[in-house]
Amino acid sequence: MIRKASKEDLINCSELIQTVIGQVNAKYYSPEIILAWQEYNALLNLEEEIKHTDFIVYEEKGAIVGVGAIEGAHIKKIYVSPNYQGKGLGKVILESLEQRARENGFVECELNSTINALNFYKRFGYEEKGPFIIEKNELSVTFTRMTKRI
Ligand SMILES: CC(C)(COP(=O)(O)OP(=O)(O)OC[C@H]1O[C@@H](n2cnc3c(N)ncnc32)[C@H](O)[C@@H]1OP(=O)(O)O)[C@@H](O)C(=O)NCCC(=O)NCCS
Repeated sequence: MIRKASKEDLINCSELIQTVIGQVNAKYYSPEIILAWQEYNALLNLEEEIKHTDFIVYEEKGAIVGVGAIEGAHIKKIYVSPNYQGKGLGKVILESLEQRARENGFVECELNSTINALNFYKRFGYEEKGPFIIEKNELSVTFTRMTKRI
């Protein structure tokens, strides 16, 4: 079941995201980048993020197993628990975020994809628009900018 996240959910969301980053994204990025990325999704930062995003969770038998967030037309994040990947949850979360953008009057969604999620987004019609580089504290991470008419 998809539902809007509450502030009380954020501790579980943060734990889930950090687990996914540590287990899935860690195969593609350096340990320094993985640590910074986990920090970016620490509880305090999610508490700020929820104030200006539509933040949703996918709940299964009372447990949060997927997370998604969108700000305007910009998809900020999608994370699915490693045990639940490949079962269609990512698709449901993505479609729900696109629906929120549509309801808010947008005709195009945009996002910065990680290396590992590139083909997932392509599968749902997102097109590559070039690199998006974040540089912080001497770390440099390259994402792929992607857009889709919704
Ligand atoms: C990317 C992610 C959200 C996909 O979630 P998921 O629940 O495993 O995806 P789904 O099961 O809904 O997959 C839907 C479709 O996309 C395809 N797909 C999923 N992940 C894919 C990948 N990494 N590469 C290619 N295709 C992929 C599936 O095969 C499926 O195709 P089908 O509809 O033809 O059967 C998940 O792997 C994840 O959390 N990754 C780590 C976090 C991350 O990098 N998030 C993106 C941040 S921008």
